[in-house]
Order: sequence, then C-alpha cells, then structure tokens
Amino acid sequence: MSELRQLKPKIYSIGAIDWDRRLFDELIPLPDGTSYNSYLIKGSEKTALIDTVDPTMTDVLMKNLKQLEIKVVDYVITNHAEQDHSGSLPQILDIYPNAKVVCTPKCKTILMDLLFIPENKFIAGDDGKTLSLGDKTLEFIHAPWVHWPETMLTYLMEDRILFTCDFFGSHLATSDLFVTDEPTVYEAAKRYYAEIMMPFRGTIKRNLERIKDLEIEIIAPSHGPVYNNPDLILNAYREWISDEVKNEVILPYISMHGSTKKMVDYLVEALIERGITVKQFNLSKTDIGKLAIALVDAATIVIGSPTVLVGPHPIVVYAVYLANALRPKLKFASIIGSYGWSSKMVEQLAGMISNLKVDILEPVAIKGLPKEADFKALDRLAEEILNKHKELGIFKREA
Ligand code: FEO
Repeated sequence: MSELRQLKPKIYSIGAIDWDRRLFDELIPLPDGTSYNSYLIKGSEKTALIDTVDPTMTDVLMKNLKQLEIKVVDYVITNHAEQDHSGSLPQILDIYPNAKVVCTPKCKTILMDLLFIPENKFIAGDDGKTLSLGDKTLEFIHAPWVHWPETMLTYLMEDRILFTCDFFGSHLATSDLFVTDEPTVYEAAKRYYAEIMMPFRGTIKRNLERIKDLEIEIIAPSHGPVYNNPDLILNAYREWISDEVKNEVILPYISMHGSTKKMVDYLVEALIERGITVKQFNLSKTDIGKLAIALVDAATIVIGSPTVLVGPHPIVVYAVYLANALRPKLKFASIIGSYGWSSKMVEQLAGMISNLKVDILEPVAIKGLPKEADFKALDRLAEEILNKHKELGIFKREA
C-alpha cells in the first residue's frame, strides 16, 4: 500500500506501510507490522528525499515518486545506513543519476560497504551544516548511536520539522499519517525503544540535550506515524531514559515439570502481598518484545529456571542474554529454580548478566518440589526486595 500525503505544503510522505511484516532482523517481533517512511521536500530550487524504504518495498517508493511526477531529485538525505531505510538507494540513484547522497562520514563508509554506492555520489552532511533547497533549509545534526554509529537527524528549519529516522520511531503499520491513537502509538514506541534504543540510554540523553533548544512542531520518524504533538514522544523518552525505576519485579521463567512454577507462583503472591507490582512471563509462550517493554521501568528482575544438563533451561538463557544486551536500568536481580540432582544454573545465569548494574539478591535454588524451608526462603527474598525498593524510595503502598 502506498502513502502519499503532505506533512505541510511541499513536504510529502512517500514511503511504504508493511502491514504483514512480523519479524525484524529475524529477531524482533512486530505484532503490528511497521512502515518505512520516506519524505520528499520540494524546495523552490532543489528537491530532497529523506531516507528511502526497505528493499522489499522499493516499488511503492518508485510508484509514489512517479505519481508526484518527480523528474529530479537533487539530494538523498540518508539519516541512517540500515537497509530498511537505505535499501532502495541504488535504484533511486539509477533513476536520478545526478542525485547526491548526503550523510555523515561514517554513514558514507557503511553505505559503500553494504550497498556498493560509489564514492563520487556522496557529499558530506557535516554536523551543524545547512543545505539550501531555495526557500527551505536543512540542518544536519549528528546523533550517533540511535542506534548505529553513523546516525544523524535532519531539521527542516522553516517548517520546524525534525526528521529522526529510527529515533522516536515505532513499529506500527497504520493508515494514519499523524498520531491519532496516542495510547497505541505510545505502546508501540515503548516497544521500539525497549528493543532497539534502550542499550544506548546514555547517548540518547546526550542527543536529547542537543535538540532541546530546537523549535520543533513535528517529529517525523522513519517508522510509524508522525508526531504533530512532539511532547508526546519527547516526554516519553525523557521518562524512559531517566534513572527512575518503578516498584516492579519482572519475573521471566520456564518450568518443565511444575516445581519451578510452584516457586514462581509463591514468590509472585508474596510480592503482591507486600504491595509490589509483578510482571510474570512464561518464556515458552511470551512475546519477547513484551518482556523488553517491561524491562524499561522495573527495579528488579527475578529469573526462574529449572536445570537442564546441569545449567539453565536454553529458553531462559536466550531471554537472559537479550535482557543483558538491552541493558535496562534494573537495580536488583535474583534467580530462583528447582533442580533434580545437581545444578550450576545459578552460577551460569549470574555470569550472564554482567551488563546489568544490579545487586544480586540471594538466589533460591532448591532440590525437587519446594518444601516449607524453601517457601520461607522465597518469603525472605520477597522481604529483601521490599526493603530494597523502600530504600530506593519507590515503594508506595496504596492506602
Ligand atoms: Fe529502521 Fe535501524 O533501521
């Protein structure tokens, strides 16, 4: 399906909506599809295309350019080299042979490596540099690591539109050009942040600082709808990247024969009784993106695993590997689980979370079905979590 609407006069959205895509990078679930937004700006003298689309949807972009009767593209502003935005670049340069690719120096080398774009096609989009299209002016703002090292933002000065590519994006296929359903977009943007941006929380802080004095009327990312109320996404990002955590325990687990599940059930109840919010994920069934979203705000993770061939269950290993790579701002972690005869499950899982700056609370690993002493150990863990949350000042019991 094609998109062909105007953000403002002479500024068109001409990308593609991918309603059916269900997986990104062969890893990230896309329950709501996605879009690859490309924008065309017709200045009085020059025409610029901002980002292209995924190579699977090049035909949509071409059709839209044809429909707008675009005979000349002078510049292709490439904010990000990843192929879902740059993938149609070779075809664009074929049909507009005089177009120049404007990007960061790092982006240039990546595009030459990934797409074999010839060196003479590039002009540098240096940090702070402006590029005139006649009555419209583009300013380039280097913003590395959202989420690759070469990323930049493009600010259309006269119209106060910030084109941010992945930054502030959401994997959401929708026919709405602008955000209309704020809760749905918020959830999709939080999922996007959790899965893609969260490892770069520190650099995002610096990038937000860089744009704080810009007058922004519209934020136009290259996935999901466009924000004509930029505060929606700016405030959400400020909250997500802050050091604040919530009175929440995330509990991803696997149980093979029910013993670990009994421990999970008991601990969950003990935490709820103490006024702590719990989000429990059976990893054999869960959408891993839901787990990532939960990790954005939580103070504590408790990992539940049985023992398989001495170590943790492989599905738990996968989830813990991802959680460690995503670097959420968790403060505390613990591990619970049951084994049959011997186990190195706790040691192996504890060794996998070195990226998490957490205090490890004493794990509860037991033999067989939980017994009275084991339930007491789980009560002790729940109490310790409560005390830690109180020390952080995040525990607020409802009256
Ligand atoms: Fe949407 Fe990093 O590409």
